[in-house]
Amino acid sequence: MPKQQTCTILSKVWLNQDTVYLSLLAGDMVRTTFRGPGQFLHIKCGDGLMLRRPISVSTCSTDGSEDQISVVFEIRGQGTAWLAERNKGESLDVLGLLGNGYPIAPESRCLLVGGGIGVPPLLGCAQYTQGRSSAILGFRSSDKGILQDRFRKSCASVQLATDDGSLGYHGFVDAVLQNTLERDDAYDAVLACGPRPMLKNVAAVSRQFGIPCWVSMEERMGCGVGACLVCACGMKDGRMAHVCKDGPVFNAQEVDWNA
Ligand SMILES: Cc1cc2nc3c(=O)[nH]c(=O)nc-3n(C[C@H](O)[C@H](O)[C@H](O)COP(=O)(O)OP(=O)(O)OC[C@H]3O[C@@H](n4cnc5c(N)ncnc54)[C@H](O)[C@@H]3O)c2cc1C
Ligand code: FES
Repeated sequence: MPKQQTCTILSKVWLNQDTVYLSLLAGDMVRTTFRGPGQFLHIKCGDGLMLRRPISVSTCSTDGSEDQISVVFEIRGQGTAWLAERNKGESLDVLGLLGNGYPIAPESRCLLVGGGIGVPPLLGCAQYTQGRSSAILGFRSSDKGILQDRFRKSCASVQLATDDGSLGYHGFVDAVLQNTLERDDAYDAVLACGPRPMLKNVAAVSRQFGIPCWVSMEERMGCGVGACLVCACGMKDGRMAHVCKDGPVFNAQEVDWNA
């Protein structure tokens, strides 16, 4: 069962012009509801009637007397703009940890493929797999790059790509994935998070090499707990899955990419 918790903001850092990192004190939320890296929080953004907003857990720990959770978000609209104005010491009304997370073991060796604001939850996967995994991180341009140093500390290797070539490989992450797997395809899984067209391409490349691929899907959400059907995602077998309850992580080969 997810917990509703008042979380105190321990620290806040602007990673670029419109992207904020928050570290939260979260009671025993991680100890009681952790299922795997890739779960998300549903955060109440404002005092009005506005719905909660889903934000992925980037990293979490149970080391201290209270659990800690970090999230990274980009300002898109009213809710995330409100969240970006919060400061250290303020409290947030948080529901979590929600969703399933990536089905990996700490001893897994994975390829983590992230695009833009899809990059942060993969940092949790890197830490969970204790340095065995490698990352391919894509951004629109170098000024949009986030968390690279933290990935370097937690991964066997990190490759970067940008759409405009201002940092790393000039092009998309699925081309880097293809090159990487041609050299070494002994990975337990490809874990991906990012925009839907990127996920579709990453799923196709992983399939070509016969490697299991898990993708974190993004849909607009209402309740966040499977009660309102707002977050439906079409599957190949005709089923409509709920991103909040059945996901957000799905087997890429089961998703209907043409829906
Ligand atoms: C499981 C999950 C995890 C997510 N994790 C993160 C994260 O770690 N960091 C992060 O920055 N964002 C994340 N998002 C997206 C985030 O929830 C939306 O950006 C946010 O809800 C927008 O709220 P808003 O009030 O600021 O914008 P709104 O005013 O509601 O919308 C502004 C714009 O954002 C678009 N939008 C709104 N909700 C979504 C959505 N769910 N997916 C795609 N576009 C949306 C709208 O179409 C609109 O163009 C996640 C979404 C899901 C479903
Ligand atoms: S958001 Fe309500 S069912 Fe998923």
